[in-house]
Order: sequence, then C-alpha cells, then structure tokens
Amino acid sequence: MIRDICYYSRHHGNTRKVLQSMNDTGDIDLIDVTASQAVRLGDYDCIGFASGIYYGKFHNGVLHFAQQHLPQGKPVFFVYTYGGAKGGGAKAMEEIAQAKGCPVLGEFSCKGYDTFGPFRLVGGIAKGHPNPRDLEKARTFYRELENRNHCI
Ligand SMILES: Cc1cc2nc3c(=O)[nH]c(=O)nc-3n(C[C@H](O)[C@H](O)[C@H](O)COP(=O)(O)O)c2cc1C
Repeated sequence: MIRDICYYSRHHGNTRKVLQSMNDTGDIDLIDVTASQAVRLGDYDCIGFASGIYYGKFHNGVLHFAQQHLPQGKPVFFVYTYGGAKGGGAKAMEEIAQAKGCPVLGEFSCKGYDTFGPFRLVGGIAKGHPNPRDLEKARTFYRELENRNHCI
C-alpha cells in the first residue's frame, strides 16, 4: 500500500502537524505542493490532499496541484485545519475528485491556531490546536482508513 499526501501548510504549520501525527510509522510520503516540481502521483495507490482553510476553502496551491496531477480514478482523502469558520471545507477538492472519477474515502478536520487579520489583535483563536486530542483523532482516522483497506 503506497500512500502520499499533497499538502499546503504555512500559517502556523498546523496541517503539517496533523499529517506528521498520521505518519507516525513513516509510511506516507508528504509532498509540499509549493516545493514539488516533478511528481508522479500515478505511482501511489491512494492520495491525500491537505491544507489549512484559506478564505473558506483549501489553499489554491493544493487545488491547482490536484487539477494538474491527480490521475483519473485514484482513491483520495482530505485533511484540513481551520481557525473557526471552515466555510466550504473540502468542497472544492470534492468537486475536482468527482470530475476525475476519484472515489473519496473520507475526510478529517480539526481546528488550527489562527492569528489571521483581526484575530492577531486578540492573541489568535483556536489556541493550542491542533492539541494532543486532535492529533490522536487524526491517527485514528488514518488507521481506520488503512484498516478499511480501500486503497488497493
Ligand atoms: C489568509 C488566511 C485566511 C484564512 N481563512 C480562514 C477561513 O476562511 N476560515 C477559517 O476557519 N480559518 C481561516 N484561516 C485560519 C487557518 O485556516 C488556520 O489557522 C489553519 O490551521 C492554518 O493551517 P496551516 O497552519 O497548516 O497553514 C485563515 C488563515 C489565513 C492566514
């Protein structure tokens, strides 16, 4: 079973923390969409897309990456963190997956420390997130994904 997760995580590295927690056994390739040029997602059995929520959706970098590189029919899952109002969440990613005939295996989300705009003035919101409980839930989500054995 070969899995990878293509991600964007810049604001506080919140989403990356969640992914690192899922990857405690080190069997997932983590691809930063801003750093990767040549990728061959066709080599993977299952592909995750992950992002902080930016203006109510996944960061455009991840959406464009998926539009360009996600092969037809590949099973996918989504992971995201958000400060307080997740808006559409993974909806734009779901639409890309649907257009490419990719089954969506599931999604995981949790809060992530947010100091964007006016929230900085009050010391930020969702302080301390992702916290150990969020990270444990993320690991459980990933293990269940593995156990369901969908990625074949
Ligand atoms: C420019 C910008 C826009 C954001 N827009 C939203 C938003 O619409 N809804 C929300 O709940 N959080 C929003 N946030 C907060 C982030 O989603 C949250 O902090 C997330 O955990 C960041 O993930 P990262 O650290 O992995 O980049 C925004 C943050 C920034 C910097």
